[in-house]
Amino acid sequence: MTSNKTLLVTNALPYANGPIHLGHMLEHIQSDIFVRFNRAIGNKVFYVCGDDCHGTPVMIKAAQLGITPEQMIEITSNDHDEDLKGFLVEYDNYYRTHSKENEEISSYMYNKAYENGYIKTKTISQLYDPEKNMFLPDRFVKGTCPKCHAKDQYGDNCEVCGATYSPTELEDAYSVVSGAKPVLKDSLHYFFDLPKANEFLHDYIRNSGAIPAEMANKLEEWFEQGLKPWDISRDAPYFGFKIPGTEDKYFYVWMDAPMGYFASLKNLCDKQNIDYEQFVREDSTIEMDHFIGKDILYFHSLFWPATLKAASLRLPTNIFVHGYVTVNGAKMSKSKGTFIKAKTFLKYLKPETLRYYFASKMNSSAVDIDLSLDDFMAKVNSDIVGKVVNLASRTASFITKRFDGMLSNEPFNQEILDKAASIKDEVIKNFEQRNYAEAIRTIMSFADEANRYIDAEAPWVIAKQEGMEDKLQKVCSDGINLFKALITYLQPILPNVAKDAEEFLNCKLDFNEAGKALVNHKVNKFKPLFSRIEKTAIDAMIENSKEDLKEAQAQAKPTKTESKESEIEPLADEITIDDFAKIDLRVGTIIEAKEVKEAKKLLQLTVDIGFAKRNVFAGIKQAYTDPAALVGRKVVLVANLKPRQMKFGLSEGMVTAAGPGATEVFLLSVDEGAKNGDRIH
Ligand code: MSP
Ligand code: ZN
Repeated sequence: MTSNKTLLVTNALPYANGPIHLGHMLEHIQSDIFVRFNRAIGNKVFYVCGDDCHGTPVMIKAAQLGITPEQMIEITSNDHDEDLKGFLVEYDNYYRTHSKENEEISSYMYNKAYENGYIKTKTISQLYDPEKNMFLPDRFVKGTCPKCHAKDQYGDNCEVCGATYSPTELEDAYSVVSGAKPVLKDSLHYFFDLPKANEFLHDYIRNSGAIPAEMANKLEEWFEQGLKPWDISRDAPYFGFKIPGTEDKYFYVWMDAPMGYFASLKNLCDKQNIDYEQFVREDSTIEMDHFIGKDILYFHSLFWPATLKAASLRLPTNIFVHGYVTVNGAKMSKSKGTFIKAKTFLKYLKPETLRYYFASKMNSSAVDIDLSLDDFMAKVNSDIVGKVVNLASRTASFITKRFDGMLSNEPFNQEILDKAASIKDEVIKNFEQRNYAEAIRTIMSFADEANRYIDAEAPWVIAKQEGMEDKLQKVCSDGINLFKALITYLQPILPNVAKDAEEFLNCKLDFNEAGKALVNHKVNKFKPLFSRIEKTAIDAMIENSKEDLKEAQAQAKPTKTESKESEIEPLADEITIDDFAKIDLRVGTIIEAKEVKEAKKLLQLTVDIGFAKRNVFAGIKQAYTDPAALVGRKVVLVANLKPRQMKFGLSEGMVTAAGPGATEVFLLSVDEGAKNGDRIH
């Protein structure tokens, strides 16, 4: 039952202004499994992706780093490529939207749309930063919410009360780029006439089968509200492609982003001497599948098909939409350490652990997927190590030691081997429908059966009995053949384990022959294929993710408004009242204060806390330049802090203070009446 279709498979192009994180990885893993599966059953697949390079955020981030956008995308796209390879995601080409191919393709498609009457112009009035001389996208204007008066809200909606409004309605608006007060300015904009494509789009969404029914229903709302012309131009300065026939107008990033799929493909075809036109022309029969997250459905189901149609090019065959990743039941959070970068994960854990876990939860729906870290560890350890690898490790040593690696000439239990072969159709069907969760359930429930068989025959018992050589060899050979079937089915999900298994089994794994037993075949010595996930690795990864955040905060060169934001230190993890009770805070009086000559920041204080006098080295010298003035002052001391040996003596506590440091440190004081030694509750 081999298949021989040709497919073009794409994954959404990550923005070039940030690192790949586990949210992105869900999609790359989903599409990579799909591609590996299709290849395994005989289909030919072209699998492309790349970085989405254009737009204001990229431009501003590069400026903050003091480099050009071109330099920045060079660095990020190599970095992204490396992370993806680290997760065994193997694109045929990882390219970028800022490329000559993409400029050609987007200009071509724009010109076609223009010729076919899809492009209109209109003058609009927009907020403008008079200091930086640039128009400001909604997200680059902040101010006070016109409804609830919450401060520092974005130009499009209020995160406090949820109101949506236009940036001109904000009170005390300021530019996020310079802090200046924006002014209104007119500019000529280019629009793609989406209403002109209304009927075509409605029909495409409802009848082509490209969009899952669940999503198509949601899209009905957009048609009910009526499609609006789509603003595809941005004024200089903008990092993007100039619109043909204009002097200073640029394509909006989302105009040339999906065209980046074609650009990546074109670049690949040129390198490999493959006909590119066969993929993109209007009557192409090659399947084109896009994997995307639910947040970018609008762009892929309306704008993208409309621009393809306007340019007389082929349409997507499928738009596969997935949900969002949450960690431990909540949105990924930088301060909780659950905003995990791909790189940080790979520092502590094997890529296949995540591939397996995500796969075990993925189906064709767009529901969110939770990475529950305890469940992650339990499932990977129990399934991959406990059920699959264990099958081989329990039987291989007998084959190596007692039979010189030779498998028996026939199975002991033909029935169970037939069963291994018989789940193939079910597994294929599930992979085809991207119901990886169900594929894994089918495979694992068979793994349970296989393990029960080995448990029942107990080769370790047979091995001790005399005259049972023949049975021992056959039962162990069955164990190895059952392992072979399981790992063949899992190969799209666990490609490295499968590769190591091929080495051990001394044969190539073939999906179509998954259940076929090896007989009279010599296998190699078994090496451990997978190790258990340790809790310490997960903890270390979370800690490291928290550090990533601190590093990023320290690196961010603040512009006027960014410093406003970074003044707010993220709230620490929630604690219980019992956690708080562990900290013993006492009222104390500074009875002596002197400078530590050799230290730039330290004062040496003696603090009287009633029942004891404490020697404390405090980093407040730059803020309190006259130590004598501190004598007699009441402070709050952390009294049960482990004493710390410093170069200048033992520090026996910490005085509490607020502020960012250096000259901005403010000691906490206590109202009249509190006595030395009083505990603070
Ligand atoms: N650059 C655009 C896509 C252009 S495609 C022509 C973009 N980039 S992105 O980096 O923000 O997101 C890339 C993909 O990752 C999107 O499909 C998005 O849905 C997905 N995800 C980003 N964060 C995610 C989670 N936390 N969870 C799951 N997927 C998420 O959008
Ligand atoms: Zn509000």
